[in-house]
Amino acid sequence: MHDALQKEIAIYEKRTPKSANAHARALKRIPLGVASNYRAYDPYPIFVKEGKGSKIRDIDGNEYLDHNLCFGALMAGHCHPAIVKAIEKTLHVGTTFGMPHDMEWELAEEICARYPVEMVRFGSSGTEVTMHACRMARAATKRDKILKFEGSYHGLHDTALVSVKPKAEDYGDINAPTSVPGGLGVPKASVENVPVATFNDLASVQRRFQQFPGEIAAIILEPILMNVGLCMPKPGFLQGLRDIATENGALLIFDEVKTGAKLAWGGASGFFGVKPDMICLAKSIGGGTPLGAFGASRAVMDLISQHKVFHGGTYNTNRISMAAGLATFREVLTRETYAHVDKLSKKLTEGYRRVVAKSGLQAYVASAGVNGALMLYPKEIRNYRDWTTIDVDLWRQYWFGMVNRGVLAQPYWWDEQWTISVQHTEADIDKHLAAFEDVAPGLAKAQSERGAAAVSSAGH
Ligand SMILES: Cc1ncc(COP(=O)(O)O)c(C=O)c1O
Repeated sequence: MHDALQKEIAIYEKRTPKSANAHARALKRIPLGVASNYRAYDPYPIFVKEGKGSKIRDIDGNEYLDHNLCFGALMAGHCHPAIVKAIEKTLHVGTTFGMPHDMEWELAEEICARYPVEMVRFGSSGTEVTMHACRMARAATKRDKILKFEGSYHGLHDTALVSVKPKAEDYGDINAPTSVPGGLGVPKASVENVPVATFNDLASVQRRFQQFPGEIAAIILEPILMNVGLCMPKPGFLQGLRDIATENGALLIFDEVKTGAKLAWGGASGFFGVKPDMICLAKSIGGGTPLGAFGASRAVMDLISQHKVFHGGTYNTNRISMAAGLATFREVLTRETYAHVDKLSKKLTEGYRRVVAKSGLQAYVASAGVNGALMLYPKEIRNYRDWTTIDVDLWRQYWFGMVNRGVLAQPYWWDEQWTISVQHTEADIDKHLAAFEDVAPGLAKAQSERGAAAVSSAGH
């Protein structure tokens, strides 16, 4: 570990002794001391006490400007008044009945008005809705294989947990990546049913359809690859996938768990003007509550109506999530708030670019909607393999440096990105940029000392 990083971690440890103790205690009963592997990192994660608006406070009393926002699930920010009010109201009239109610229809209308789908079903997480979308595609086409992209994340079910962060020794030829299970416990049969292609490389997709004629039910992807920092689709890539799917009788599934709310009013399909067959939503549509949805045309969703595909869930459309979802669509994700956050996003992105240029850091700044990331690469990455060339310890210096200055610039892990909430202000962005201005010269110095091309293990 280089000196500058060591220094930042020492400051972190000095600022957060209660988090260290809390983590040590949690380790005894909870694997890694956390409830999701993504929350674990060295030396230990920050334990949170409370959040309000654009800020959170940890159990040591430190305040942070929050651009983690629960891995991007809180474009509403913390305790948005409209969402609090809606949930409070619901708490007094019953939270869940396992029986239909009016909010389901109302929220379905909101979703169908905004995204190119005719019918929806609800769930409680992104994992759940991508799982159901894959099953629907299999049922609609009577085929078993789902094509995904190397490095993409669609949740934790067996179809999704393939080639998420494959190691270099396992991932094979970039033109025909090997399907690699994302940990033990994923059945071989599942892995075999998930051919993998390279993001931004249509030829690698074509090759898979030639290899498995009549066998691929769907292509599933994040229209912007957001499991590698932030990687934009090349012009024509999404339309190319649309064409390949149509030509081969396969469905195109947009996993808009991240982009659905945060990219733009109409999500990625609206933003890029490419119409998928199915769409998956979660994270920020729930305003901080567990809410997911998948939707498609009536013809596809009729597979459920005709009892051909089974879909259920005890907590589906619980009234807390539905009330929060309705408040989110009607009062948080409005055209006016998109104008507000777009302005903040531009300010943050341009500010970062200015600081990067001034510091001489070899990096670029990627940004889309309210998401963005400092990308520590000499040139724009196109896919997962490019992403793995990052200097991990330099990134860690950035992240801990920002945290020590009161800014959670993004979730921990260099595959993530920042989120700006509707409750962030111009003053928040100024604070974020001031912290980065303070951190950047040290990064540039460390980068040149370590050699611009330093390569560390990027897997986690
Ligand atoms: C694109 C994408 N799809 C699916 C998921 C899974 O969502 P969840 O964590 O709610 O199961 C995530 C979570 O990060 C995601 O980013």
